[in-house]
Amino acid sequence: MSELNLILLGPPGAGKGTQAEKLKDDFGLPYIGTGELLRKHKEEGTELGKEAASYMDNGDLVPDDLVIRMILHEVEERGADGFLLDGFPRSVGQAEALDEALGDNGRRLTAAVLISVDDELVITRLEGRRQCPKGHLYHVEFDPPKNDGFCDQCGKPLRQRDDDKRETIQKRLATYHAKTEPVIDYYEERGMLRRFDGSRSPDEVHDLIRATLATLRLEERL
Ligand code: AP5
Repeated sequence: MSELNLILLGPPGAGKGTQAEKLKDDFGLPYIGTGELLRKHKEEGTELGKEAASYMDNGDLVPDDLVIRMILHEVEERGADGFLLDGFPRSVGQAEALDEALGDNGRRLTAAVLISVDDELVITRLEGRRQCPKGHLYHVEFDPPKNDGFCDQCGKPLRQRDDDKRETIQKRLATYHAKTEPVIDYYEERGMLRRFDGSRSPDEVHDLIRATLATLRLEERL
């Protein structure tokens, strides 16, 4: 098996989306971003989006059955030759469902990439995060756009996400510690976890992850 089947784990604001944007190009992988897909459903007012909205705005996880169905469908449609999953799995139930679905097709996960940062940094990063409608990311202090308030790449106005208010960020952190941290143990016990310090600069984090994944891919090909 030489396909790369990867997941990105870490607290809100760890830099999963920032790294995914680079890694998907490095390895030619389809990017499946759970939060991005859910926000699209929300904006389009689909049944799933309506159901998910209250959980997301409250900083809670959307119920497993809704998210599992959505993501396994995406993996089947776009991830037949490898994938980069961001924001899934976020509960042990989701991790088990992914393993089972891959196993049914004779596949398995290559690695779980954990990007760690502490809670204080999460709050600084998320309060200052801005993004354009196409999802290009900026930070008012750490990565400002050239033209204040507008995307360097598409020129569209930048916005703050609905769930990037301090109170909701704190709720999202609490949800992460309670429900997603057990997923770290799940992958550690299975020897799949790779840890990275997300407090370094985006380029440093990227270089370290890319080098690790390149080695893993070589090993898969041997
Ligand atoms: P989701 O959209 O997945 O949000 P999240 O996991 O909370 O992660 P974020 O997107 O907030 O952060 P990130 O790690 O991608 O950081 P980023 O790169 O943007 O989920 C949203 C909601 O959807 C959830 O709360 C939940 O309700 C629901 N949901 C999603 N998945 C679910 C699931 N599986 N099950 C159930 N519900 C689910 O970076 C943040 C900022 O920091 C940016 O401004 C960036 O420019 C800056 N930055 C990044 N890296 C660095 C760096 N190294 N140094 C300095 N600044 C940096």
